[in-house]
Amino acid sequence: MSSLVNVLLILLHLSTSVRGHHGCGGGEIMRRNLGGKLIERTSPTDEASAAAIQDITQECTPYSYAPLLQLAPLYPTTWETASILPNDTDALALFQQISQTISSNPSFNLAPKGTPEGDFSAVQYNGTDVDCWWPWQGCTQPAPQTGLPDDITSVPEGETWGLGFDDGPNCSHNALYDFLLEQNQKATVFYIGSNVYDWPLQSMRAIKDGHHVCVHTWSHQYMTAFTNDVAFAELYYARQIIKDILGVTPLCWRPPYGNVDNRIRAIAEGLNLTTIIWSDDTNDWKVGDPTVNVTEADVNAAYQIVVKGATNGTYKSTGPVVLNHELNNFTMSEFIKEYPSMKSAFTHIVPMAAAMNWTHPYVEQNIVYPDFAAYIGGQTNVTIGPSITSSASASKTSTPGIQSGSASVSGGSNSTAGEKNKEGQGSGAIRFTINWNLLYLLLFAFVL
Ligand SMILES: *[C@@H]1O[C@H](CO)[C@@H](O)[C@H](O)[C@H]1NC(C)=O
Ligand SMILES: *[C@@H]1O[C@H](CO)[C@@H](O)[C@H](O)[C@H]1NC(C)=O
Ligand SMILES: *[C@@H]1O[C@H](CO)[C@@H](O)[C@H](O)[C@H]1NC(C)=O
Ligand SMILES: *[C@@H]1O[C@H](CO)[C@@H](O)[C@H](O)[C@H]1NC(C)=O
Ligand SMILES: *[C@@H]1O[C@H](CO)[C@@H](O)[C@H](O)[C@H]1NC(C)=O
Ligand SMILES: *[C@@H]1O[C@H](CO)[C@@H](O)[C@H](O)[C@H]1NC(C)=O
Ligand SMILES: *[C@@H]1O[C@H](CO)[C@@H](O)[C@H](O)[C@H]1NC(C)=O
Ligand SMILES: *[C@@H]1O[C@H](CO)[C@@H](O)[C@H](O)[C@H]1NC(C)=O
Ligand SMILES: *[C@@H]1O[C@H](CO)[C@@H](O)[C@H](O)[C@H]1NC(C)=O
Ligand SMILES: *[C@@H]1O[C@H](CO)[C@@H](O)[C@H](O)[C@H]1NC(C)=O
Ligand SMILES: [Zn+2]
Repeated sequence: MSSLVNVLLILLHLSTSVRGHHGCGGGEIMRRNLGGKLIERTSPTDEASAAAIQDITQECTPYSYAPLLQLAPLYPTTWETASILPNDTDALALFQQISQTISSNPSFNLAPKGTPEGDFSAVQYNGTDVDCWWPWQGCTQPAPQTGLPDDITSVPEGETWGLGFDDGPNCSHNALYDFLLEQNQKATVFYIGSNVYDWPLQSMRAIKDGHHVCVHTWSHQYMTAFTNDVAFAELYYARQIIKDILGVTPLCWRPPYGNVDNRIRAIAEGLNLTTIIWSDDTNDWKVGDPTVNVTEADVNAAYQIVVKGATNGTYKSTGPVVLNHELNNFTMSEFIKEYPSMKSAFTHIVPMAAAMNWTHPYVEQNIVYPDFAAYIGGQTNVTIGPSITSSASASKTSTPGIQSGSASVSGGSNSTAGEKNKEGQGSGAIRFTINWNLLYLLLFAFVL
């Protein structure tokens, strides 16, 4: 029976093809949408066994993870535009609140812009940029009367590189995460909800290794295209799957492609998600996209421009937030290659939580991250104290991720003021040429 399943699986894999939209790695982000329904050969069973796999093919072999079977009905379909599930009363109640804030404030009550795939040709917009629409002219400072905080685009410390990886978890990220561990280097990871759902054990490694997790939407599309409820659902379900699988509720996000305006910022704000953009783009995500001609040499050069800035005074008082990706073998290898020169040019390389002194970067107050001073002093590990009452955003399920968390146990929460965070950026929409759900139905019908 199981070899029959395997043969069918191989056929399924061969018969799929994925097409990407051009833009932030669109061609590379693969959809699985397996719904956790698969029984696989030598499956990893927990975070540690998944983290120990060295072979890329094996890392990227689908596996079944029991908690996801229960969670599946609570989530939208992966890699499809999210919407609020009709019986999700928590989500509906929160959205209703946010929706009132949006509709009662003319600064927020804006029409959607463009398509989810990033076609803005029909958008009527003028140079006044009252919506502070980032793709227009790079606006990251909403007008004061909106009450919205500025997006984060730099590190408030001199000669300090703000390190982040977008678009994970990539199934094959062990080599990168092993490297970061060897270097005692933490990063901020901007996780796509659908990738967390597809690769739960890989995603748990981020917490185990002490990285800082932010939201990068459910299906990684252009957020300004969506109506309020859909934009909310894209953020809500990505945040929720991170909570359900990793055990932490992020307080930061990065908009895919930087596509954000005041309406989307206000929706994120309603979820206590701080917006993080970037100051410099390595363009690593563009390599392999046939519609642009970005080469490895271009990416090397982009890294080196930032590195050069550390030696000529550009980052004397504030550091860059640099866009690079956990998207594929190339983007991860490129980072590993460039790291030594980054390291020698910059005084510090830190995750955004340390850069901003976000010692409590999640809703869960028992999880404590080092502030900047502690981090550069060598205390880079996360501390997970005994769980305290989960007031905001209680999880409906257990939190498998956090049990395997590393680190010593601290005395409990130490809530300091202003613990909210922000982040963002993205990749592409993708189209399947076959209907996975139908195939799995057929598969099950056949096997049963
Ligand atoms: C993850 O990286 C591998 C290369 O190691 C690539 O083949 C795959 O498409 C990536 N997966 C996703 C979901 O982007
Ligand atoms: C919503 O309905 C689906 C089936 O229609 C069910 O499986 C799921 O548990 C329900 N979700 C909630 C939050 O009640
Ligand atoms: C530009 O657009 C804003 C918002 O839609 C509008 O208030 C303003 O009048 C427009 N300005 C011009 C010059 O068209
Ligand atoms: C956002 O933070 C505020 C203040 O801590 C809290 O009252 C509120 O419930 C939070 N909202 C969400 C959606 O978690
Ligand atoms: C990429 O390079 C090829 C070959 O030099 C050229 O034909 C093509 O027009 C270029 N595409 C873009 C988008 O620049
Ligand atoms: C420093 O180097 C960068 C990258 O080459 C360059 O863009 C920038 O103008 C230089 N700044 C100064 C102050 O020389
Ligand atoms: C890239 O792929 C090669 C060959 O599969 C593998 O040995 C290497 O570890 C990968 N590098 C990264 C950073 O994933
Ligand atoms: C972080 O804390 C240090 C003191 O340790 C302080 O100098 C710095 O300004 C703080 N940064 C932020 C963004 O609050
Ligand atoms: C941080 O955690 C790593 C891995 O969990 C461990 O090897 C290391 O000793 C810890 N460092 C400190 C300073 O606690
Ligand atoms: C809580 O934080 C304050 C200010 O950083 C510090 O003085 C105090 O020692 C901390 N308390 C605990 C229990 O960590
Ligand atoms: Zn992205």
